[in-house]
Amino acid sequence: MILFDEAKQVFHLNTPGTSYVIGIHDEGLLLNLYYGKRLPDHDLWHLSRRMRCASFSPCDPVLAPTGFSVDVAPMEYPTNGRGDFRVSAVAAKNRDGNTVTDLRYQSYRIFAGKPDLPGLPHLYVTNDAQCDTLEITLCDPYTNLTAVLVYSVFKDCDVITKYVRFVNHGTHPLKLCRAMSSCLDLPSMDYDLITLYGRHVKERQFVRRPLAHGLQGVRSVRGSSSHAQNPFAALAQTGATETTGNVYGFNLVYSGNFEITGEVDFGPTTRMVMGICGTDFLWNLQPGESFTTPEAVHVFSDRGLGGMSRIFHRAYSDHLIRGRWQYEKRPLLINSWEAAYFDFDTDKLIAFARQAKELGIELLVMDDGWFGKRNDDTTSLGDWFINTDKLDLGRLVDAVHELGLKFGIWFEPEMISPDSDLYRAHPDWCVHVPGRVPSLARQQYVIDVSREDVRDNIFGQIRAILDNYEIDYLKWDFNRNLSEAGSALLDADRAQEFFHRFVLGTYDLQNRLTNTYPDLLLENCSGGGGRFDPGMLYYSPQIWTSDNTDPIERLMIQFGTSLCYPASTMGAHVSACDRTGYETKGNVALWGTFGYELDPCKLDEQTKATVKQQVAEYHRYYDLIHTGDLYRLICPWDNPFCCAWSFVSRDQNETLVTLVCMRHEEQVLFHLKLQGLDPEKRYQLEGTDEIYSGALLMYAGVDVSERADRDGDSLKLHFTAIG
Ligand code: GLA
Repeated sequence: MILFDEAKQVFHLNTPGTSYVIGIHDEGLLLNLYYGKRLPDHDLWHLSRRMRCASFSPCDPVLAPTGFSVDVAPMEYPTNGRGDFRVSAVAAKNRDGNTVTDLRYQSYRIFAGKPDLPGLPHLYVTNDAQCDTLEITLCDPYTNLTAVLVYSVFKDCDVITKYVRFVNHGTHPLKLCRAMSSCLDLPSMDYDLITLYGRHVKERQFVRRPLAHGLQGVRSVRGSSSHAQNPFAALAQTGATETTGNVYGFNLVYSGNFEITGEVDFGPTTRMVMGICGTDFLWNLQPGESFTTPEAVHVFSDRGLGGMSRIFHRAYSDHLIRGRWQYEKRPLLINSWEAAYFDFDTDKLIAFARQAKELGIELLVMDDGWFGKRNDDTTSLGDWFINTDKLDLGRLVDAVHELGLKFGIWFEPEMISPDSDLYRAHPDWCVHVPGRVPSLARQQYVIDVSREDVRDNIFGQIRAILDNYEIDYLKWDFNRNLSEAGSALLDADRAQEFFHRFVLGTYDLQNRLTNTYPDLLLENCSGGGGRFDPGMLYYSPQIWTSDNTDPIERLMIQFGTSLCYPASTMGAHVSACDRTGYETKGNVALWGTFGYELDPCKLDEQTKATVKQQVAEYHRYYDLIHTGDLYRLICPWDNPFCCAWSFVSRDQNETLVTLVCMRHEEQVLFHLKLQGLDPEKRYQLEGTDEIYSGALLMYAGVDVSERADRDGDSLKLHFTAIG
């Protein structure tokens, strides 16, 4: 619900549990008056005391007598060069060559529903009643640049999205040097900043540190959201835990260079801005042209980090993931990568499929190595035609389908090998800048998907495969970051538009793919989880979480990923790695979109029996895991010895609890306290006649001390409400 109080000049945006209040101050300056737990009223102007000017703070001459300065006020969309010295949201270079920018309130519009963002992924609603949208138009009186701030307020979850649409209504060209999607100014610094850092095979590691005066935050300049930092951050009130305290969650629906920058000033107040990274970004706006930023997602919970995560999970399951596989049960897959790497042929894969069928697996994915002359990673990216020396794809696909399995294939569409027919024919199609030899990573270059002719070629090649063979699933990989980032088609003036144009090109390709093949199950990937972000989830309902399939190391990765992303999106496979037994490998992989990453023909009889049991459990718990609520009961960043999590059905009639003993400690007896149950209901532990109240399970807990008492052991407890 969105209200505008004309008398008080205040916008009041309400989700079921939160309020966001924006005020129009004198001289048309837009202020961020409040964001947090829902308020019944919105007269917050008395809090304007903290807007008093400090010494050295510049004042708008009209407002100077009132002591108002943008340097200390909570600005809704702070501009560069007009006296607010904190990190700004926007800077536009004008015809005079300076970047002083000044945006003043002009008008507003409130309507039901949520508009689409052109060419960009975004949250959506299926009918207009699910959400209201507010557009506030600001204008720079000198340049006539307008910024339309677009807020969508959801009615079924505590989510507010924001983005900005710029239009150059002036008569001179402008250059946007900085164009953030959102800004939030909070009136204190009593928060910890939580972010997710990582690297290849170690994605989304949890890090929490108290805010300090000055700048702090995360960014990517790698051309993709990257392994190194996720476009996610949370501000947790000092002392907030998994279950208690106020937490703000921030996530950018974008897969390229981003920044989430926090700044604590002398106030102390805290500013958080998020958007496309300001480094190496410059966008030309000719008169009449417009530019739309990516969308930022904001969540507030007064129920700790767990509460924040569950809001993200439901919002993304219902308002971000799309298409046939949003709610339809996904097939349980086996992937050839760790089983065979590049060493396979038609018969070997048919043998995999036969054995997989016997185990109950539903989809065979042929990974890297089926195209061009690819027998290792030095060659052939870009040559997306079948390597007939090694493969009869028609025979393979038919055999797999005859067995009753689905068939999947791997592509890496944004890449090109120097040793490929495509590169030899079009050397200028690789991402490069004049006068510099492009750097190699994994022996490959990036192909310039900012160009339409390149996208047409790549998509044409993908179509030639998908139109001629019955392909049910496609894994879309991205195995390096961008350096010497430029395009042969962009002149010096537009060179710094490249990074964003590259991301728009990727989105266009994924859009073409999902529109042309609506039944195809798409799984994104980037050397594991190097592009695990909401932008990619708009096109693919699942993403390969990490190339690390060690179940113990996976715990940190999956716990971290779950801060923001639902279980249904996290590719999680059992592999042959022998750090733990198959039971624990299965229990950890069951958390996500389950599958296998091993040679099924090499399993002994006992392991085959375990796999069959896991397949049965996958079916049994699918709905609970894919639609239930996740509770992180013991997090690995809090406890180095064991961790535990549970899924609770939305009707609170069922819960599946998993505990993994990472390192056994002698004499550690403890009671595991469950969460999310109905205290009044009575629950029976499966396989026993033990019955407990929900209250007892949550407040006193269940004794798990003797059930998992060796390194790498794990257990599952399944409770169902009775009566
Ligand atoms: C990446 C992926 C792997 C596999 C290889 C193939 O590393 O994460 O799963 O597809 O590429 O080269």
